[in-house]
Parts: sequence; C-alpha cells; structure tokens
Amino acid sequence: MNLDQLKSDWLGRIAAAADEAALEELRVAALGKKGEISLKMRDLGGMSPEERQVAGPALNALKDEVTTAIAAKKAALGDAALDERLKAEWLDVTLPARHRRVGTIHPVSQVTEEVTAIFADMGFAVAEGPQIETDWYNFDALNIPGHHPARAEMDTFYTHRAPGDDRPPHVLRTHTSPVQIRHMEAHGAPVRVIAPGRVYRADYDQTHTPMFHQVEGLAIDRDISMANLKWVLEEFFSAYFGTKVRTRFRASHFPFTEPSAEVDIQCSWEGGTVKVGEGSDWLEVLGSGMVHPKVLQAANVDPAEWQGFAFGMGIDRIAMLKYGIPDLRAFFDSDLRWLRHYGFAALQVPAVHSGV
Ligand code: DAH
Repeated sequence: MNLDQLKSDWLGRIAAAADEAALEELRVAALGKKGEISLKMRDLGGMSPEERQVAGPALNALKDEVTTAIAAKKAALGDAALDERLKAEWLDVTLPARHRRVGTIHPVSQVTEEVTAIFADMGFAVAEGPQIETDWYNFDALNIPGHHPARAEMDTFYTHRAPGDDRPPHVLRTHTSPVQIRHMEAHGAPVRVIAPGRVYRADYDQTHTPMFHQVEGLAIDRDISMANLKWVLEEFFSAYFGTKVRTRFRASHFPFTEPSAEVDIQCSWEGGTVKVGEGSDWLEVLGSGMVHPKVLQAANVDPAEWQGFAFGMGIDRIAMLKYGIPDLRAFFDSDLRWLRHYGFAALQVPAVHSGV
C-alpha cells in the first residue's frame, strides 16, 4: 500500500471539492465508518506487531492530515460563500431614497392648532364638549327658550326618539356655545378657555356646509369688560394673520350676551382678492358680547360676583381667509388633489413665533 499515493489522492480531491456538500461526501468516503482510511486502520489488527509499528503511526498521520485538510477546506468554502452573499446583497446606501407620498395636515386641523397656540399664549386653556347635545345645553341654558326665533334660525338637526318617548330630542350642537355652560358648571369661575370643535346646521352652499367648525371663547372674572374683549381679539387676529389687524364692533343681538357685538376685521378687496389687515373694507368674522347674567346663572355662576366676555368664530372661515381657499365645500370632499394642494407638512408646527 502506498500511503503517499493515498495522501496525495485525498488531498487533491479535498482541494477540488466544489461546495460543502461535496466535501462532506469526501469526509464520509475517507473517514466514515466504511471510509477508505478507516478500513485501512481496521486492517492494522491483522498485522504483525512489527508491521503495525510502522503502519500505525503512518496511517494516524494520514488521518490527521486529511482531517485537517477537510477542516481547512470547509472554512475556505464558508468564507467564499459569505463573500458571494455579501456581493449579492450589496447595496448602495448613498442612492437617493425612493419617493413616497406622505399625507398632509388638513387646513382645519392646522388652523385649529394655530388658534389654540395663540390663545394659549394669552392664558386660555382648551375646553371640550359633546357634539350630540341636549337641547338644554344647546339652547335653554344659553337663554334661547323653546319659542325663541333663534332656535328656528339655527337649522337644527334633531336626533330620533322612539314613538311614545316624549322627552325632548337631542340635537347635533349648532354652535360651540354649550361648552361655555358645561365648562362653568364643572369648574366655576374664574374662566379663561377656548372651545374649538365641530358644529352642525342643515345648510349647504359655497360658504355653508352641514358640518363646520367653530371656536368659542370665554373669559369670566370679577371685572372683565368689552375693552378686554377688543384687546384679546385684536391681539389674536394680528398674531393669526401676521400683521396688525384692526377690528370694528357693531351692535348686534344674541340671546346669550348683553350687550352683543358682531366683529369685523379690516380688509381690502383690491385686485379681486381679499387682504386682511389693510384697506378700508370690513369683513364680519365673529359674534361676541358680555355673557348674559341668565347664562351665568344657568351654569351656577353668581352674576352678582362674576362677569366676562364670550365670542364664537368660524374656524373654516378664517382658514379660507388666511390661506386663500375659495370654496368651503371642498374642505370636506376628501379630494386628494385638494388635500395635497392646501394641506400642511406634518412638521410645520404652528407656534406664535413660527410664522405659519
Ligand atoms: N353661537 C353663535 C353662533 O353660532 C356665535 C356667538 C355669538 C358665540 C356671540 C358667542 C357669542 O359666544 O358671545 O352664531
């Protein structure tokens, strides 16, 4: 038996193994139970002691060499496979990212945030109330009794009552004013809150939708006056439109305020588009007044001790004015082209000083 021949045979075949499976086959064929080298070692038993003394170490050395060669080849094949994989999975992290459309913030959300930030800066907290109201909160507590024309004028949506159930139906709130009552009931006076939210009226044209948004304002303390109201509103409009805005108060009537005023802001119509804060025209933007004593009473606040102002303003309307959006109905059509055009980037965080 020529061990040198055997060795160069096996080492050659191991070196030529193409992959780990082929290498494993070689290992079994050489060193497995019935492998060529294993069988040769078994032959040692039939030899004379002298023969064994020579062949034994030689065979053991061969076995070691083949074992080592297989292990080395195995490691080499593993490295090569890893190199292959790395080459296949290589990616260029410097390539520009694939473009993906992101959603936008709806103008109503954006403006609500802007309004909230400005009033927060003046010390107003945010209050909320339900959109489905009792007629007590929506009307009676606000000094609008059942026979009052204001009730009819509101184009109210009423909820359904089962036949025979003669309790007064709930309403979809027609304004954010009921939040005044709920907030004073829960927290008493003094008060400084705004209440933005959805309101509902059966009305539909270019400037009216059956659902729209208002923000209510309420400030109650011992000596709050119309002068404070005027300052707060001018401060608000100037911050909101980013330019000094003058206001004009016109005597008006609301059941829940006395005296009452409708407030206009200064604007110009030059060139066919409206510009707020310049010119000599006026645009009506809100209703306001000194909270009626009956309203304070309805909310368990003593009108002999407390007084203050309230106002209600259309959020959609001031959004249209600031961002030049012509048709209110499009606000709620969910047309992606409109949303992409008029929507805001998520990180355009509104703040008093951010200029948005
Ligand atoms: N609630 C009124 C409306 O929806 C707006 C309003 C007017 C609210 C005067 C007030 C206010 O708080 O004092 O038309």
